[in-house]
Amino acid sequence: MCGIIGVVGASDTLATLLEGLERLEYRGYDSAGVALSGAGGTWRARAAAGTESVLALKLECEDAPTGFRTGLGHTRWATHGAPEAINAHPHLDCAGNIAIIHNGIIENHGELQEELESRGHVFTSVTDSEVLAHLIEEARAAGQDLTEAVRTSLLTVRGAFALAALDATEPDVIVAARRVSPLVVGTAPGVTYLASDVPAILDKASAFYAVNDDEIVRLGPEGFRAIDLEGAPVRLRPLSIDWDLETAQKGGYDDFMTKEINEQPDALRATLLDRRHRDNVITFDEMSLSDDELRDVTRIVLVAAGTSYHAALVAKYAIERWARVSCEVDISSEYRYRDPVVEIGTLVIGVSQSGETIDTIQATREAQRRGAHVVAVSNVVDSSLAREANAVIYTRAGLEVSVASTKAFVAQVAALELFALRLAQLRGTLPERDVEALYLGLQAVGAQVAVALSRRDDVTAVADALAGARDFFFLGRHVGFPTALEGALKFKELTYLHAEGYPAGELKHGPLALIEPGVVVVVVATDPSVHEKILSNISEVKARGASVVAVATDDDETISSVADFILRVPATEPMFSPMIDIVPLQIFAYATARGLHHNVDRPRNLAKTVTVE
Ligand code: M6R
Repeated sequence: MCGIIGVVGASDTLATLLEGLERLEYRGYDSAGVALSGAGGTWRARAAAGTESVLALKLECEDAPTGFRTGLGHTRWATHGAPEAINAHPHLDCAGNIAIIHNGIIENHGELQEELESRGHVFTSVTDSEVLAHLIEEARAAGQDLTEAVRTSLLTVRGAFALAALDATEPDVIVAARRVSPLVVGTAPGVTYLASDVPAILDKASAFYAVNDDEIVRLGPEGFRAIDLEGAPVRLRPLSIDWDLETAQKGGYDDFMTKEINEQPDALRATLLDRRHRDNVITFDEMSLSDDELRDVTRIVLVAAGTSYHAALVAKYAIERWARVSCEVDISSEYRYRDPVVEIGTLVIGVSQSGETIDTIQATREAQRRGAHVVAVSNVVDSSLAREANAVIYTRAGLEVSVASTKAFVAQVAALELFALRLAQLRGTLPERDVEALYLGLQAVGAQVAVALSRRDDVTAVADALAGARDFFFLGRHVGFPTALEGALKFKELTYLHAEGYPAGELKHGPLALIEPGVVVVVVATDPSVHEKILSNISEVKARGASVVAVATDDDETISSVADFILRVPATEPMFSPMIDIVPLQIFAYATARGLHHNVDRPRNLAKTVTVE
């Protein structure tokens, strides 16, 4: 999510860092910072200015001292702590010699900070990352060199990281490490580079190497050497890179939408990380509503627009099933004007990727005016929605660039379902062993999404076979219904073709009149509890000449006798299925749109964030 860059041995260290940060801004940009280091000490500059943060950083760097050959840079997409300059990286140790930058989440930062503070360390930010600077400081004070200090520090942290550290008392060295979050090393004669993504160093390095999970790399001007967490030497994997800058920013994919579809397992992993504390209690650190306040909730209203509305619809099923709280979902622009009832005990949840959608902000303002507690579910830290709400849950999908929302949807469903489990825990509506099983099942969804992603070619083949069709219906029952709505929304916004999402059982009450030869009906058929009914619905549309595409689980043997095309997905707990079933539908919409030569990242007439009513 954050972008990181490092350089050792350069004559133009600061310029290299600032240029690299500009090229990383597509990863997130709420603040930025650099640290330069040499025998004379460590110099740092940081700035927070939203989309202009690197520009603001450049101003901060106008009086930077010269002659430094080693430096680190970071552009931040906040996960812990507001996007303010004090939380911008690099973070320093107490003496100001060690600087660290970090992308990821340190799960046990709370307990580590407590221990470090009890030993006299002073923290200056509200981030999970700063603990790394102080852990390394202690290890250096115990006589370890920087590489060993980073290695032993990492033995105590849990979570995800791509991190880099420098220390003015060990000049011309950067030590970096990775677990989950990406990290690449680049080399050129006399200079060694480090980056979260290739674009940052694309025109600087001539050879590139991937750092694998739990590997530590020591970079010097002459090159690098790598070890594993036990200290044994390892070889980094060379990368063959022949991308131009634009391709590199898209991670080598043709467009941001493909990149973001493929990032869904990571978005899930990040959103679910660090959500359960001691005694298996599900916890949202950033959420300030007390357990008592949550226990007293008697009714939940979710308000949202577009894709976020569909994620909210999925959440309704989970909240009612698991927590037994009455729940309704409203389109934001409707809620505000319908004179809503807000009673004591009503909790309103505003769901928004951007946190800036004016319809959703106005809806939650209306709810607050009527006395409701409001929780924001936002992908952007400190968004307007998050700032105005009484409490917030952050999805951590990372910056979403493509107008068509993809990874934000799966992250929202995961966060809201986890919230439903927390409510169930508080209200005692599920046995603890069921909470445990569901929690573990949720953690496994990312891997199942990865399997669905691996079947991309099968989906593209179906889209190609249906290339001439112009009318599409998307049907589902239970949580398959919001999945069908989301599949239809993706399809219409990308292809500009008529696509309607419908509850499968409602078809016979009117829309069935539209079914005729040439119409394509896409059916989400993965939920065993409604499977027979879905098969009947398929028969109804088949009898009227429609072509049927079914999203079906790997173990479903009955589906092949009724569907013309099958998009297979791994079976899962039905409540989790929208996060998996949406994957082939995203790819189906994408492939059809590409076949029609549409710009998939920027569909006509649409904006990424809608800030007008
Ligand atoms: O930022 P938000 O989640 O509040 O945005 C809501 C909708 O504008 C958004 O989901 C829109 O429908 C997308 N283009 C769907 O792909």
